[in-house]
Amino acid sequence: MTAAFAPSPQAPLPQAGEGSSGSIASARDLIESSGIDASEARSLLAFVLDAKREALIARPQQPVTPDGVARFRDLCARRARGEPVAYLLGQREFFGRLFRVDRSVLIPRPETECLVEAALRQMQGIFAPRVLDLGTGSGCIAITLALERPDAQVWAIDVSRSALEVARRNAAALSASVAFLCGCWFAPLRGRFELIVANPPYVASGDPHLEELSYEPREALTDGADGMSNLVQIARDAPKHLATGGALLLEHGYNQGRAVRKLMASSGFDSTHTLQDLAGIERVCVGRIN
Ligand SMILES: C[S@@+](CC[C@H](N)C(=O)[O-])C[C@H]1O[C@@H](n2cnc3c(N)ncnc32)[C@H](O)[C@@H]1O
Repeated sequence: MTAAFAPSPQAPLPQAGEGSSGSIASARDLIESSGIDASEARSLLAFVLDAKREALIARPQQPVTPDGVARFRDLCARRARGEPVAYLLGQREFFGRLFRVDRSVLIPRPETECLVEAALRQMQGIFAPRVLDLGTGSGCIAITLALERPDAQVWAIDVSRSALEVARRNAAALSASVAFLCGCWFAPLRGRFELIVANPPYVASGDPHLEELSYEPREALTDGADGMSNLVQIARDAPKHLATGGALLLEHGYNQGRAVRKLMASSGFDSTHTLQDLAGIERVCVGRIN
């Protein structure tokens, strides 16, 4: 990307507000008049300028060229209409790494880092664990596990071909070794795993939160019913795909903890318990097959 605020070394630095149309503006003025959250505006301006956010804080009077101003205002208008910052930037940080995202994948959520931490704890003491990530989306879970545990053999499945393309690109960019397969949950696979993780679509179709999430793929968010059908299918089928002592970690919605514990216990899992996310909300159900 070209730097929209870096004049050529020979040219004098323009001053903010200078120019016949007055369309050069300082970074600070642009952020203050953006009409959106200032922190998000700073991220968008840093993206337009191919600069770091810290550089804008250190040099708030930094002039921005008319082209940069126009591009920034366009992004702010899209943000004001509700488009997520991650899609505008084309990336989102997850577990300390940047993942490319576009509208074919769910934007990785901080609460899913709780699932990854729990998965890493489950893998402790197991050499070369076989790991399966169901509904991989951007690949954030599978790729993170593969990078945090380079001895693991990691498979990842999604029903969406366009999501898998994003996941494959992320794996290549981050040099992660993951085998990606297309299909419905366990269908493309044989064999058993020490660990199965899944963050399936679990939002009920009538949940009012879906409206705020309209930019993300609907089929990544909801089963079109009560939100439980994918959780049921995965919990019921997982025992056939787990090695003895293997564990299933299922992410679920804020109000599904009790139902998922019951579901996993009735599907044959032992030591079934729920982990909370950083907000203290029940988020991941863990169970073991003995
Ligand atoms: C909630 S998103 C999770 C994405 C990613 N794992 C994450 O945590 O950010 C659910 C994913 O499941 C996929 N999915 C939905 N139905 C599926 C099915 N029947 N079989 C496999 N994947 C499915 C969607 O395409 C989507 O990528």
